[in-house]
Amino acid sequence: MSPFRLTRTLPEDAAGAALRADVRAGLTGSPKTLPPKWFYDARGSELFEEITTLPEYYPTRAEREILLERADEIAAVSGARTLVELGSGSSEKTRHLIAALDGLRTYVPVDVSESALTRAGQTLAAERPGLDVHALVADFTAELTLPETPGPRLVAFLGGTIGNLLPDERSAFLSKVRALLAPGDALLLGTDLVKDEKTLVRAYDDAAGVTAAFNKNVLNVVNRELGADFDPDAFDHVAVWDAEHEWVEMRLRSRTAQSVKIPALELVVDFAEGEELRTEVSAKFRQEGVRAELSAAGLDLTRWWTDGEGRFALSLSVAR
Ligand code: SAH
Ligand code: AVI
Repeated sequence: MSPFRLTRTLPEDAAGAALRADVRAGLTGSPKTLPPKWFYDARGSELFEEITTLPEYYPTRAEREILLERADEIAAVSGARTLVELGSGSSEKTRHLIAALDGLRTYVPVDVSESALTRAGQTLAAERPGLDVHALVADFTAELTLPETPGPRLVAFLGGTIGNLLPDERSAFLSKVRALLAPGDALLLGTDLVKDEKTLVRAYDDAAGVTAAFNKNVLNVVNRELGADFDPDAFDHVAVWDAEHEWVEMRLRSRTAQSVKIPALELVVDFAEGEELRTEVSAKFRQEGVRAELSAAGLDLTRWWTDGEGRFALSLSVAR
């Protein structure tokens, strides 16, 4: 059994304070919004894992296909002794990469979901003797202080999670990632690609209603953490393709005119009938856009791989 350590990088009530600030700002603004990172309590992380197995949700299968085909090449190019993974979740696809990285000494999964980190970290530490697994409970959009570990370092950001950041958040985030890379280090980035609207909307509005439950789970999080009285059944799950921004938006549409109390904020939020709360954007990319965004952050794209159907891309880039 390898060592497994978990470090909480945030002070005791930092997550609570951040949630309060996000909920106040998001629900008093117009249009109403909430940041997607609050989906992922233990239940939300479970629902996301269920999403990855749905017939309509192709990104996980497409990215796994690329990883399985390219893991040896990625390992040879990077020669990584440390793998840092941002938004690692279950680390389920990452195990293929870990298996290919012969010289890997340390795996640093970083996630806001402590339940996902603990489960994945313990499994991996048991599976790969000699691998030091050092999990970090942290927000990857905030300042990230990584443990001192041997280089070269490969930073992986899989699943297309970069698409859940808004364009200005993406550029700030990529600049921060760039600052984590020394010469010889690399970034492995998963990006979902622009495709026909029907396929995209189906992926975010599945027949079994798992994505709807995932979307509404953010209301359960606000109820539990801030004592709010959201009735998730009083909202409909909505997924729409925004062709101008090239992103899918998930929203919660109020079925009726209603008021929601949020005692921890001493706030009452009024919803009109049909009013929508945006809970997530999931941007879809093109190669030239990814290259340009990386370049603006001081990163040069060196490899670009897609699955057989051209639905999803993995890219490798290095600091300029
Ligand atoms: N990489 C996995 C999981 C993707 S789901 C995959 O490809 O399947 C997105 C993951 O990012 C979740 O585990 C969620 O908890 C985490 N996450 C979302 N926003 C985050 C943030 N701001 N900081 C850290 N982790 C975050
Ligand atoms: C984590 N992220 C890349 C997922 C996505 O596809 O944007 C989250 C998700 N939202 C709805 N379904 C899955």
